[in-house]
Amino acid sequence: DGKFRVTLIEGDGIGPEISQSVKDIFTAASVPISWESVDVTPRIIDGKSSIPQETIDSVKRNYVALKGPLATPIGKGHVSLNLTLRRTFNLFANVRPCKSIQGYKTPYDNVDTVLIRENTEGEYSGIEHVVVDGVVQSIKLITREASERVLRFAFQYAQDVGRPKVRAVHKATIMKMSDGLFLSIAREVSKDFPNVEFDAELLDNACLKIVSDPTPYNDKVLVMPNLYGDILSDMCAGLIGGLGLTPSGNIGDECSIFEAVHGSAPDIAGKGLANPTALLLSSIMMLQHMNLYEHADKIQAAIFKTLAEGKTITGDLGGKAKTHEYAQAVIENMK
Ligand code: IPM
Ligand code: MN
Repeated sequence: DGKFRVTLIEGDGIGPEISQSVKDIFTAASVPISWESVDVTPRIIDGKSSIPQETIDSVKRNYVALKGPLATPIGKGHVSLNLTLRRTFNLFANVRPCKSIQGYKTPYDNVDTVLIRENTEGEYSGIEHVVVDGVVQSIKLITREASERVLRFAFQYAQDVGRPKVRAVHKATIMKMSDGLFLSIAREVSKDFPNVEFDAELLDNACLKIVSDPTPYNDKVLVMPNLYGDILSDMCAGLIGGLGLTPSGNIGDECSIFEAVHGSAPDIAGKGLANPTALLLSSIMMLQHMNLYEHADKIQAAIFKTLAEGKTITGDLGGKAKTHEYAQAVIENMK
């Protein structure tokens, strides 16, 4: 039918409602995409969760997926499906931009950070064990291969999007070996990108500086190991109003999954109250990734207009609109 097929993982809780908003807006914008909805309900085999084979096949066949929130168990229990997805498809770079939303007031109105997080290893490698009773080890695994891959991606990205300054964020003063390796590879890779400026900053200092004044970060691409990226990306999201407003893209060599990073919000699920903005902005990153720039620009402008007007916004942003009313307002603003 001349359309690009995209895998849709609606997710848990509010996932189906916010996915519906994306579908409605894409239809109204005549985006040449047809959705293939798949289920990721874990099948637990020998205590390990695994994604249904049909889902894996769908993402591999379509190369691109959009994903809503999947609930993650705390402590004991199956490994987070979010992580399983990232690992299954080797989605090694996680791109997380945070840009101030006009009309939604926060202490700063000019935030524009871009963070790239290593997405497959570090503290997320899942290697943990009890040494003796009361003593446990969780291994932070850093490899040359994964570090180089994400660092090359970050430099290439910085060059491609015209934001030619890469800053590696690390704690090599303490994590001498793991972060030391990451940092030395960053220096090596930087030599291959003479048009991209490179420097490095300690993680704690970066946190202090960004919350004190984010402006100096508006021209940089920050790149860092997995857990630092997890934490620092939430901190940046906090500067613009939270995870309900920030997109995210998990990029691999073969396929990519764009996802809302917020939770499944079981307390409001099914009530039509959820804010679909994070998933919508993720779907715009997806359209850009697919070179569908016109559609991306059109939808993005309508979202920003709707938020700036502030008449038809959801409860989390201080409004009274239902999810579908907000989506409808975005559709009106595309006309
Ligand atoms: C994120 C989330 C995940 C993570 C959770 C849900 C496993 O917080 O995407 O940042 O820790 O990476
Ligand atoms: Mn997180």
